Amino acid sequence: MKIVMDMDPGVDDAIALILALNSPELEILGITTTYGNVSVEKSTKNVFRILKLVGKTDIPVFTGARKPLLGTPDYAEDIHGEEGLGDVSLSHPKIDPAGNAFDFLREVVRSESDITIVATGPLTNLALTILIDEQFVSHVDKIIHMGGAYNLTKYGYGNVGPLSEFNIYSDPYAASIVFNSGAEIFSVGLDVTRHPDAVFTAQEIREIGDRGGRIGKLLPRMVERMLNSEGYVAIHDAVPVAYLVDSSILKFMDAWVSVETSGLEAYGATILDNREWVPMELRQGAPIKVAYWIDGSKYKDLLWDRVFK
Ligand code: BDR
Ligand code: CA
Repeated sequence: MKIVMDMDPGVDDAIALILALNSPELEILGITTTYGNVSVEKSTKNVFRILKLVGKTDIPVFTGARKPLLGTPDYAEDIHGEEGLGDVSLSHPKIDPAGNAFDFLREVVRSESDITIVATGPLTNLALTILIDEQFVSHVDKIIHMGGAYNLTKYGYGNVGPLSEFNIYSDPYAASIVFNSGAEIFSVGLDVTRHPDAVFTAQEIREIGDRGGRIGKLLPRMVERMLNSEGYVAIHDAVPVAYLVDSSILKFMDAWVSVETSGLEAYGATILDNREWVPMELRQGAPIKVAYWIDGSKYKDLLWDRVFK
C-alpha cells in the first residue's frame, strides 16, 4: 500500500514512523510535517533523526504548517520533551526538506493512484491542501488519522479537556474541514488507542528496555514523561499504521461526527451522533468511520516484532 505520512513527532509519531518504515506492506512516498507536539522546525528535525536512525534517508520530507488555521499552537513539550523525542538525544542529522507539504500533497496524489494518507498530528496540512485544491480528495484513496475521543468505549474521553483530544483540539477548524471534505475518513481516537489492552505498563516498558534491540533500549527514556504523568504508555499514533499492516487490529463503525469549534470546555470535542432512532441521513455531522474496538495484544505484538525487538 502506498502511503504518505503527515506528522508532528512526537514520541508516538516517531514509533509510528519506525513501524511504517519496518513494514514491507507499506511504501512511504513522502513525509509531511506539522507543528503539534513541538514546533514544525523541531518535528521536521525529528523526522530526519528517525530516518537516520533506521537508515532510510532516501524518503523525501516536506515542511508543513507552523500554526493552526486560527489561534496559536499549544505544544505538548511537557509530555514529549523539549525536543519532542522524550529524553533521548539522537544525533543531529542533515535537515534537508525537499519542499513544502502542500505542493507535495497536491502533486503526489496526481502522480500515483490509490494513496492512503496517514495523519498523526493536527489536521492543518490536509485542511489547507483541501482548501486550495478542490480536486485533491478525489485523488486520495482514504485518509486515516489518529485523533478524537468519541465516547464509544470507557476510554473515549479527552486528554486536553474533558472531551477534547490533542490533535483535534490543536486545530478543530482543520478537523472539521477534513471530515466534511468528502474523502473516506478513518478516525482512530482515544477510545481504542488508550484501551488498557493496547497500552504498556511500567513493567512492560522496563522489559522492552532490558530485552529489546537498539530502538527498544531507547524506549524507557523516550516515554518516561508519559509514564510519570499517566501511569501507563499509550503509543496512540502507531495504531492507524498497525491497522494498515493488519486490518484485524481495529474495527470501525459508520458514524456522523461534528467537531466543536466554539465554546470553552468542549472546544475541540468530536461529537458523534449515535441516536439510533434518527435515520442515518438526518444525523448531525460528517459521515466518517470511527474505530470502536482494538485487538490490543495483536497490536502490541506487532510493535514488539517490528520496532522494539
Ligand atoms: C495525540 O496527541 C499527540 O500528543 C500524540 O502524538 C498523538 O498524536 C494523542 O492525543
Ligand atoms: Ca502525533
